[in-house]
Amino acid sequence: MFLTLEGGDAAGKTTQAVALEHWLTERGRTVVRTREPGGTELGAQIRALVLHGDHVTPRAEALLYAADRAHHVATVVRPALERGDVVVQDRYLDSSVAYQGAGRVLDADEVRGLSTWATEGLLPDLTILLDVHPAVARARRGGRAAEDRLEAEEDDFHERVRAAFLALAAAAPDRFVVVDAGLDPDEVAARIRAAVEPRLSA
Ligand code: TYD
Repeated sequence: MFLTLEGGDAAGKTTQAVALEHWLTERGRTVVRTREPGGTELGAQIRALVLHGDHVTPRAEALLYAADRAHHVATVVRPALERGDVVVQDRYLDSSVAYQGAGRVLDADEVRGLSTWATEGLLPDLTILLDVHPAVARARRGGRAAEDRLEAEEDDFHERVRAAFLALAAAAPDRFVVVDAGLDPDEVAARIRAAVEPRLSA
């Protein structure tokens, strides 16, 4: 089973991925917990380039995320799924569609096409969207209301990313479960387990 966690920055994906891994392990499953970008050695280098390097143009950025994904799926995710393990993954192709598409430069369908090619069409069995309300996200990012143009632009970008994620979830309700990430973390974890449980027994 291939499970992905998606959502804006500061949605609490990592905390929830760890909790889900523990719960699945207790239930006797072998879990591979991984992430994008950076789930492989090559991916860690790509992650450093794209997140901590100089400015990267939008098309190059989209290709770097897709390259990380291609290598990660081929060397980590598919082998794990073939062994029968459960893969719990922090971010996948929906992040590319939401983030690279939200920059207003690239077409979201083209971005998706790139990832589909990179992964030979591998889709998650279940995607948990941790939806963060803008006010919660702002508070977690530092608490201030947007004061200058750059901060306002940043708020605007995060709003577009959020809207894109919600649209993806609405378009694929069988694959997505949306959980309010502003709830207490234990409650978020309980809702995630409730979504995973029926798929485990299926
Ligand atoms: P991540 O490591 O999940 O950071 P955070 O914990 O802050 O959410 O993701 C790093 C950044 O990479 C995040 O801002 C989203 C971005 N990203 C993309 O823009 N496209 C992608 O395809 C992926 C996987 C991530």
